[in-house]
Amino acid sequence: MEENKELINNIITKETVDAPIQHLNNPVTDIKPIVKKYLSPVQSVTTAGNKFFFADGDAKVEIRVVSDEIIRVRLAPHGVFLDDFSYAVPVVDQKVTTFKFEELQDHYAISTNTVTCKVKKDDFHISFTDNLNHKVMSEDATPMHWEENIEFGGYYVYATKKCGAEENFYGLGDKSGNMNLRGRHFQNWNTDAYSFGWDQDPLYRTIPFYVGVNEQAAYGIFFDNTFRSYFDFGREDNSKTSFWADGGELQYYYIHGPHMMDVVKRYQTLTGTHPMPPKWALGYHQCRWSYYPEKKVKEIADGFRSRNIPCDAIYLDIDYMDGYRCFTWNKSHFPDPKRMIKELANDGFKTVVMIDPGIKVDDNYWVFKEGKENNYFCRRSDDYFMEGHVWPGRCQFPDFTNPTVREWWGNLYKELVDIGVAGVWNDMNEPAVFGSGTFPNDVRHNYDGYRGSHRKAHNVYGMQMVRSTYDGLKKLMRNKRPFTITRAGYSGMQRYGCVWTGDNVATWEHLKIGNIQCQRMSVSGVPFCGTDIGGFSGEPDPELFTRWIQLGTFSPFMRAHSAGDTAEREPWSFGEPYTSINRTYIELRYRLLPYLYSVFWEHHRYGFPILRPLVMLEQENISNGYRQDEFTFGDKILVCPVLEQGAASRMVYLPKGKWYNFWTHEILTGESEHSIATPLDHMPLFVRAGSVIPEYPVMQYVGEKDVDEVLLNVYFSEYEVNSFLFEDHGDTFAYEQDIYSEKKFSVKGTQYALTIEQTRSGLYTPNYELYNYNIVGLPFNVNKITVDDIEITDYALDELNCLRFKSNKNFTTIKIYN
Ligand code: GLC
Repeated sequence: MEENKELINNIITKETVDAPIQHLNNPVTDIKPIVKKYLSPVQSVTTAGNKFFFADGDAKVEIRVVSDEIIRVRLAPHGVFLDDFSYAVPVVDQKVTTFKFEELQDHYAISTNTVTCKVKKDDFHISFTDNLNHKVMSEDATPMHWEENIEFGGYYVYATKKCGAEENFYGLGDKSGNMNLRGRHFQNWNTDAYSFGWDQDPLYRTIPFYVGVNEQAAYGIFFDNTFRSYFDFGREDNSKTSFWADGGELQYYYIHGPHMMDVVKRYQTLTGTHPMPPKWALGYHQCRWSYYPEKKVKEIADGFRSRNIPCDAIYLDIDYMDGYRCFTWNKSHFPDPKRMIKELANDGFKTVVMIDPGIKVDDNYWVFKEGKENNYFCRRSDDYFMEGHVWPGRCQFPDFTNPTVREWWGNLYKELVDIGVAGVWNDMNEPAVFGSGTFPNDVRHNYDGYRGSHRKAHNVYGMQMVRSTYDGLKKLMRNKRPFTITRAGYSGMQRYGCVWTGDNVATWEHLKIGNIQCQRMSVSGVPFCGTDIGGFSGEPDPELFTRWIQLGTFSPFMRAHSAGDTAEREPWSFGEPYTSINRTYIELRYRLLPYLYSVFWEHHRYGFPILRPLVMLEQENISNGYRQDEFTFGDKILVCPVLEQGAASRMVYLPKGKWYNFWTHEILTGESEHSIATPLDHMPLFVRAGSVIPEYPVMQYVGEKDVDEVLLNVYFSEYEVNSFLFEDHGDTFAYEQDIYSEKKFSVKGTQYALTIEQTRSGLYTPNYELYNYNIVGLPFNVNKITVDDIEITDYALDELNCLRFKSNKNFTTIKIYN
């Protein structure tokens, strides 16, 4: 009877939770598994260094202390663990200060300095407790469980945790809809989701990592499983959070907080951060499907320069190729690509080209021939080729999970690099196949020697493609920083490239979706992200396009892109006043470039996200005015985009502290709401008091002119705030040898004085001589300003009542500004 109930529950559970996926891919996955098995009471324990093994007589669980704050859990249903290999986590063990193991009456305890993992003897429930306040951060609601998969072998694996009544959830990477994941369920299966909608799932990327915030404390779970996986955040049962997968191992990392920022930074220690991009990649990029022939490309480039609208990169989408054959050129449209790329480069434009995974089946095509001869293409279970239709027609697909194939593919870029291509855009790598959606499940993959079917490799295919591109370019460009973009990916993809959110739509709703999507990617370990500005399909009206440019100014990756059947979509396409406003914001992007570059460094070196949702700033205060459409860009600039058509004003919530209105310099107090006027040329921006925001002079492209003076905007504050400015060569990996300059500023105001202190570290010396200080918000009674103990006596007030002075780098003399 009991067993029958269990069976019925299973059926209900599967049907309710999995309903939307029934039609996807191979129907064999829809075969209902029979019975779930649960861990039973712990019977034995063994230890080996930082690993602890618990067995119930048959199944085994490994608990491994990864660091003081990270603990990994693995399940082997019949006592034998799978090979320990992960594309996401290259190195598991980190530094551990100390840990201890104890057996207590009803449980075992593994404790580090900060967290204790308990395993209950009678029901095998695993929990994680904060050592400081003994708060239980995460706790099993049922023991880990599994079902045998008769068709493919292995198991469907499940974990179910308790979910606090007020608990909220964030992360999970590429999801659309509200920031808070509570009350929803999701699945991860990389999907070409053309024109996706609010709440549509799954999308292009898989990041099985979430952050739970319960009673003001945060923790993270990273379920490192590449199979189709599922997450339920209190939807099926309000008191439970579950995650499960169609195969592989039940393996997850518990990541301790207690702050969301701690969790995200620790997740990046596992999966890596984004390498420093070439500085030009932070400029404005112009793309379209497609700019051709050469004359059109030139016309677009001239369009920017003649209108003085900065731009660093122009993209060639698939039509530059000969019949969509990757690594070839359509010579009637581009008779001499090398000359064209050189001419564009002389005018300050980098050329970025599209490369897809589908290789046309054509015996006269060298890439196909090489791939075929060397057996580099994916095969079905009975050894027939994996064939499917994409842009070029019938295609075969390299197995990017094979290291030899990755190496080959990386070298295919040689000719493109030789003729001056500066960046590569990898698309359709979910992988997307017309008609069927993607590969059938039975396709075989090398998986770096840990072989598997497409069920296991699907979600990493795109990541391994961009990895091969990144590594290939790095080698071919002789260690210059490659620039790569990918559509699909898996956790850890940030080590190899940036992403855009795929084929969005020119609607106001999509502006909202994209805003949240980029923030969510940012707190899920993928910082370098942007949307197709203006919307890929459909037609934006001029207002929508301008609002999108404004938001895009504060997207880490700033690129306008559109489908070929839409009207032209350049910053000047809509005439005045739009062109001028678009120019002002693109110029702002270039003014703020040293700030963004420094924020990127903060991400690369220290794991901070670039975009930080408000909840990350005030996780303890979420219910008070939480607005998911606001975020900070770095930690100093608060961005409140205008996302409603015709909005004459919008309410903004300012977090704790004092904030300067970026445009008017008005000082506003945080933890409160304000109504801010939003005429078309105005997107509300605020700067945290105490910040030093560096600015470069506006240039038409990165490196157009030598910087001979850096503007430092100092926002007066009565509490001490630290800021920094990172600079280096901008396109090499010399920063790995400490060849960079990290200049720190600490700003402290009192009733009568302002003190600025500066320190510099690193081995790089910038070329410019002058800093132009601009002190914003200086109270009238302040009569003493010192910079590194030198009192400033000569200064001027500008039209906004900002005090200005110049000084040279060493402060041996003070120059007067007038
Ligand atoms: C896909 C991409 C899009 C690109 C198009 C043609 O739809 O997502 O960005 O323009 O393919 O290559």
